[in-house]
Amino acid sequence: MIEATPETLAPGPQTLPGDRTKSAKIGPMIRVNQAGELGAKEIYRGQLAVLKNHPCAPLLEEMAEQESAHLAAFDKLIAERGVRPTALSPVWRMAGYAIGTGSALLGEKAAMAVTVAVEDVIEEHYQNQLHALDRLDDGEEAELRDLIAEFRADELKHRETALENGAEEAPAYQILSRSVKSGTRLAIWLAERV
Ligand SMILES: [Fe+2]
Ligand SMILES: [Fe+2]
Repeated sequence: MIEATPETLAPGPQTLPGDRTKSAKIGPMIRVNQAGELGAKEIYRGQLAVLKNHPCAPLLEEMAEQESAHLAAFDKLIAERGVRPTALSPVWRMAGYAIGTGSALLGEKAAMAVTVAVEDVIEEHYQNQLHALDRLDDGEEAELRDLIAEFRADELKHRETALENGAEEAPAYQILSRSVKSGTRLAIWLAERV
């Protein structure tokens, strides 16, 4: 029989049973976001390597800078909370850079089409995380929530910028868009787990 000690009667804030469940849910969220932002940063780096002298380069640079800031924020959270980072960083880096250069070689409209497709999926992914945080919420994760909401707004702006810059006129837009979207969804699924 368990003796009623002050510990068993009144567990401290660190030992509340809900805490483990909550951190078990939030850890993968931060991990997948870090992985995604790393991939996004690499996509723009790849696109810029090809399109550095194109008139759209300043736009790409601006979006790349925002992705770097997003990544830095999740790097910081990973360190602060002791979350295991994705084991697949080299994969996200390589895949992002390859998608970036590959799409840019097809032209700036294909590069923009990739942005629209990626941001479509990421925006939805961040929205799902916001809903999940709302369900878990006890007010403690307000800062994380604000961060994700802010980044989601940035991603929506990237999507808009890309649409304004001819994304939908890209060659084989539908096929390109569908492949990038399923690739991004697969990457999210993997990054939550590995
Ligand atoms: Fe981002
Ligand atoms: Fe973005």
